[in-house]
Amino acid sequence: MRKRQAKLAEIERDLTYYGADILTSDSFKSSDKNMQHGDVSVMEHSISVSMMCMRIAKISHMKLDYSSLVRGSLLHDYFLYDWHNHEGHLHGYRHADKALVNASNDFAINPKEAYMISRHMFPLNIRPPKSREAAILCIADKICATKEIFSKPFYYNRIQEIKK
Ligand SMILES: [Fe+2]
Ligand SMILES: [Fe+2]
Repeated sequence: MRKRQAKLAEIERDLTYYGADILTSDSFKSSDKNMQHGDVSVMEHSISVSMMCMRIAKISHMKLDYSSLVRGSLLHDYFLYDWHNHEGHLHGYRHADKALVNASNDFAINPKEAYMISRHMFPLNIRPPKSREAAILCIADKICATKEIFSKPFYYNRIQEIKK
């Protein structure tokens, strides 16, 4: 149990260190008013996915760019609208590109992070992720989305603290 808590604390430390400018920005925080799945907001989903990416990364023991993993995953759904009454079913196909444009405008993101955002909707978007970080994001996004459809996001209690 203690080991698990230590790992979670490590994940949270990396998240708040590498993603500080994103997590504290008004624009990222504004995504807390847009719902993603059920009553989980886009902001909550994004933080949950980012933490799941870090968890997968630590289990995998692969050589990874942790900073990019955090930043690309936090911004993967940075489309900044309520997709339920904006894009409807087309949202699934279009929002990766929109998130990338917004993220590039609002934050200093590197090519690795841009690539992660643009490829995260595979297989709906047919271009597959061909970097380790992008592949992890793709998997973490599906795991988190599946849970959110039925209940609260992974790391719910920690996310509420991070949001403050
Ligand atoms: Fe997405
Ligand atoms: Fe997502």
